[in-house]
Amino acid sequence: MAGCGQRSEAAGKQLVPGPRADGPLVLSTWDHGLPANEKAWEVLQNGGSVLDAVEQGVMVVESDFTNRSVGLGGNPDRDGHVTLDACIQDHHGRAGAVAFVQRYEHPISIARAVMERTPHVMLVGAGRSVGRGRMASAHASLICPKVRAAWKEWLKTSDYAPVANIENHDTIGMVAMDAKGNLAGSCTTSGMAYKVHGRVGDSPIIGAGLFVDGEAGAACATGVGELVIRTAGSHTVVELMRQGMEPEEACREAVQRIRRKHKDLSKMQVGFLAIRADGAFGAYGLQQGFTFAVRTAQGNNLLQASHG
Ligand code: GLY
Repeated sequence: MAGCGQRSEAAGKQLVPGPRADGPLVLSTWDHGLPANEKAWEVLQNGGSVLDAVEQGVMVVESDFTNRSVGLGGNPDRDGHVTLDACIQDHHGRAGAVAFVQRYEHPISIARAVMERTPHVMLVGAGRSVGRGRMASAHASLICPKVRAAWKEWLKTSDYAPVANIENHDTIGMVAMDAKGNLAGSCTTSGMAYKVHGRVGDSPIIGAGLFVDGEAGAACATGVGELVIRTAGSHTVVELMRQGMEPEEACREAVQRIRRKHKDLSKMQVGFLAIRADGAFGAYGLQQGFTFAVRTAQGNNLLQASHG
């Protein structure tokens, strides 16, 4: 894994190959990726599928009610509702997604049910309709007092000014590869704090927050979803890897496309993670501070992504 998280040569120069895993591999966004990776790894070690691994891995973070950017502990929208988005995709490109889910603890499992139990890819506000996903207990479905107090305070000014790496450290995105080279990915979030009621970000959108194609690779995104949707971020990363780019360079190019299309990004963060079909992997962020967790047979490590 030497060199991981350090930028390889700039575009146009000879590229230095990035890190590459020889066996199973799990990558996920931010510090909360560490416990998620550990669960995913356990699933793989116990003979579970890579799809099981990426579902159960991110469920750990969905169940952490102290997390303010994923699951029911997340910050609410401007009207005080916590609304959740998630998606999942397998090696063969099968996909499921849900947006605007309320009061369910595990939107990722609902997304998987959309994929496996319906002829569709995406449902809005789903839960009971696909027979999967645990309804939150009464106390968990209410906004916790600390979160409510912060929201009430925010309402005094209603000033929507996210801070990079703080309010923007939203999603858990996970991409993984099993010992046979099968890929899968998952993405789940409560979205941007104090978003407009009904707003959906990149996380449940296949091609934006997540894209998996077993022939080329897998990528996921975190950060300001609007920036990622406009550039079909994760799809861009996978297509660049298909053309032979190193994963970190592909993530970097996706970030540069965002830079070229927007004027002032100083308060925004976006980060991408990628695994190429040959096991090479990498990450890149718009700003300093994007961390990601890497689980291989050598251990579970938190790394700083290169940025620029
Ligand atoms: N990246 C998550 C969101 O923008 O909602």
